[in-house]
Amino acid sequence: MKIAIGSDHVGFELKPIIIEYIKGLGHDIEDLGTYSNERTDYPKFSKKVAEEVASGNFDRGILICGTGVGISIAANKVEGIRAVVCSEPYSAKLSKEHNNTNVLAFGSRVVGSELAKMIVKSWLDTEFEGGRHEKRVQMIEEIIC
Ligand code: RB5
Repeated sequence: MKIAIGSDHVGFELKPIIIEYIKGLGHDIEDLGTYSNERTDYPKFSKKVAEEVASGNFDRGILICGTGVGISIAANKVEGIRAVVCSEPYSAKLSKEHNNTNVLAFGSRVVGSELAKMIVKSWLDTEFEGGRHEKRVQMIEEIIC
């Protein structure tokens, strides 16, 4: 898969660890910033990653801030984006299977690097189940429209 990743300054140190891990799983990954630990604003990176995923340039997006909360809220403002913040792998998996999430967020102040890798793997290894979930995801899209 083609994956876009972004973080604010708080997620900056965890990001390269996740990038290397995702490369090791055999995916293509592009870092859309931030590129230093200088203080910045997480919505900028939500917008970049979410717009790239929504436009179809990337299959999925990953966002990291301190908690994963702000950066996922902002990503969900972009039409076509279903972003989830996760601190364990079960919700990450189910968010793909049932909710067809296309952006995964987590917090560098909440999860350590090994747990973050487990969350990422569980999400990337899962596909949307469709079926009865299709209509519900469509209903989410209709709220946005
Ligand atoms: C930055 O201090 C912090 O607010 C941000 O990384 C994130 O946790 C927001 O939700």
